[in-house]
Amino acid sequence: MKMKNNLSALLLAFVLNSYGCSKKADPPPAPVPPVQDTTTLKGVSPFFVGAAIDVSLLQNNTLYRNILLQQESSITTENTLKWPSVHPSENVFDFSGGDYIASFCSSNHKRMHGHCLVWYQSNPAWLNNFSGDSLAWENLFKTHIQTVVSHYKGEATSWDVVNEAFHDEDGSLRVNDKNTSDNFDDGCIWARHLGRDYIARAFIYAHQADSSALLFYNDYGQEWSDKKTDSIIAMVNDFKARHISINGLGIQMHTNINQSKDGIINAFKKLAATGLLIHISELDISVNTSNDPLLVFTGALAQQQANTYAFIATQYKLLVPPAQQYGITTWNVTDKDSWIRTYLNHNDWPLLFNDSYARKPAFYSYRTALMQ
Ligand code: XIL
Repeated sequence: MKMKNNLSALLLAFVLNSYGCSKKADPPPAPVPPVQDTTTLKGVSPFFVGAAIDVSLLQNNTLYRNILLQQESSITTENTLKWPSVHPSENVFDFSGGDYIASFCSSNHKRMHGHCLVWYQSNPAWLNNFSGDSLAWENLFKTHIQTVVSHYKGEATSWDVVNEAFHDEDGSLRVNDKNTSDNFDDGCIWARHLGRDYIARAFIYAHQADSSALLFYNDYGQEWSDKKTDSIIAMVNDFKARHISINGLGIQMHTNINQSKDGIINAFKKLAATGLLIHISELDISVNTSNDPLLVFTGALAQQQANTYAFIATQYKLLVPPAQQYGITTWNVTDKDSWIRTYLNHNDWPLLFNDSYARKPAFYSYRTALMQ
């Protein structure tokens, strides 16, 4: 009987214990704070990292603005300082957008890179229709360059002075319209009205307006058009021989996941050999290489893109000497703001942040590559 009682007592103690009734209940575990990943691109990068920006998103979209504040150390004026925005009619300059960007940069310690003073595209109708003799054209050209550069003296660290002056296929200077159907290999009003040496004069005028600004020649396709790369290098050598100030070369790198790696390596090596600053100035990596309107952004594509971002950053660090690393700039911030969607109308996902402003696999691989 006694034994039976003992057994019951033991059983009762066990049951009570398992329900936590035999002693004071343990306090509930403290909530685990979500792991905050505070490592930023600008925090890990040995050189400037930036994005080209849309000024109205900067003004009106907090998520967009916060990404810039947190991640970037350099800002490029995507469209804000192109002719149609900054020089909307012959005697009118509009600096409102540019001034907003300049003050955002100066109050948040960002480098401001001005894009672009002279281009064959994106010229306003009034400019394309301008009629005047060669002196009037020269005056218009010089006035534009010097008014804009002077206005941002002390604010813009650097400028893309001339953009995309050479043809893709043969590296020849864009002069006359080749009537190509894609509208991307047009002639150039500047070469037609000012003569072939307009590029040199653009650099001279910019240097006169702000002798401390760093002046860049900017172009795309150096990773697949060796002829274009060679023309750019010949131009640099010519400028050096004539003591014309040029400080850097922009390699835009609107590229894609299938771009030959050798082409990228070759371009970095050749451009770096000039001794100038090298800026990857408009990086985006397209995944929809056949422009399929029904393509879905799969995990596999995201990974391929992540690998390509990492490859580009790693090779840049490896092949461009540190003193020449002007930085890497992506062409806008999230997939939905990219010109590949908004301007080219392609179904694509080319940037580091997705449509919801969240980091993509490419963000992490790019960041790791910058850090290593
Ligand atoms: C693009 C802008 O991103 C678009 O919003 C605009 O409408 C057209 O121009 N090379 C350049 C950039 O140097 O100026 C271009 O920007 C993209 C290609």
